[in-house]
Amino acid sequence: METQTLDRPTKTTDFLPLNGTDYVEFYVGNAKQAAHYYKTAFGFQDMAYAGPETGVRDRASYVMQQGKIRIVLTTPMHSDHPIAAHIKKHGDGVKILALWVDDAYDAFQQTVSRGAKPYQKPQTITDEFGEVRTSGIMLYGETVHMFIERKNYKGIFLPGYKEHKTNYNPTDTGLLYVDHCVGNVGWHKMNEWVNFYEEVMGFRNILTFDDKMISTEYSALMSKVMSNGNGFVKFPINEPAEGKRKSQIEEYLEYYEDEGVQHMALATHDIVKTVTDLQSRGVEFLTVPTTYYDDLLDRVGHIDEDLGPLKELGILVDRDDEGYLLQIFTKPVEDRPTLFFEIIQRKGAKSFGAGNFKALFEAIEREQEIRGNL
Ligand code: FE2
Repeated sequence: METQTLDRPTKTTDFLPLNGTDYVEFYVGNAKQAAHYYKTAFGFQDMAYAGPETGVRDRASYVMQQGKIRIVLTTPMHSDHPIAAHIKKHGDGVKILALWVDDAYDAFQQTVSRGAKPYQKPQTITDEFGEVRTSGIMLYGETVHMFIERKNYKGIFLPGYKEHKTNYNPTDTGLLYVDHCVGNVGWHKMNEWVNFYEEVMGFRNILTFDDKMISTEYSALMSKVMSNGNGFVKFPINEPAEGKRKSQIEEYLEYYEDEGVQHMALATHDIVKTVTDLQSRGVEFLTVPTTYYDDLLDRVGHIDEDLGPLKELGILVDRDDEGYLLQIFTKPVEDRPTLFFEIIQRKGAKSFGAGNFKALFEAIEREQEIRGNL
């Protein structure tokens, strides 16, 4: 699976055909500094900007790109702005998972008629580069799915945004596309959101992990992976499960003060190179005990990569029927233990690293323990 998005829209018979992830928007306390972080640490490139200088008076938004991944970092200008309330409650986090569609009006109609709660009625916004049609529906917590239709638009991002360039341009780190975005929902809420994705969005459940599979000595969670019809967009949903101590999902819910996006998985074709680069730029990753590597090849069979660099960097490996994958997880990228990133390289495998869950969750628990939250 080379990419999760297409350069050109595809034809499917879904009632909600999706061409891929359009952008992910974060509401943050200081977008100028966040942009510097994502540029310096992750290698995102300047793309567009909207703010007072471009006629947008109430906020500043930086759009950054790497491969097909587009992130938007937005800060309100005043405390009475609704975005300020969002940040006060949740801290920095993901507000919008925007999906690229051929018809944003139809996407709204199809989903709302099936029970979606509207976030933004369909609207057409224009500038000298054409028109963009958008609409949006509510997701778990205060998170939103926007539908973006841009087939009649030639501008840099969206009307209101201007191309943005600076003299500070660190290289990219080889990140290519959004592989999946995971949501954490409350106790016993997973199936409610699985039903939402099935009935309202036309997705299907492609993988299920119960609390027996995802548990350590201390804590547990359950997870179901939802995929749209063509497989370009995948949203796993986690909920906490009973354990001796506090689940990492509970810790997230407590600090995000709501349901929300837990992690975004970003794909690379060369995870050793990407992670070496990210580490040298200061991105912090979870580590597993080196004993993880002692019997790794017995567990996963032959892999093309040398074990040495994987062990040195802390990259995990898992295999399914179709191939294998390499993955690693950052520590949370805010002071609140909420959003983090996964870096993933797929070599045939279409799964999510279930064989690594135990080692990974024990690593998370060591961090929870240090924070006093286990
Ligand atoms: Fe993941």
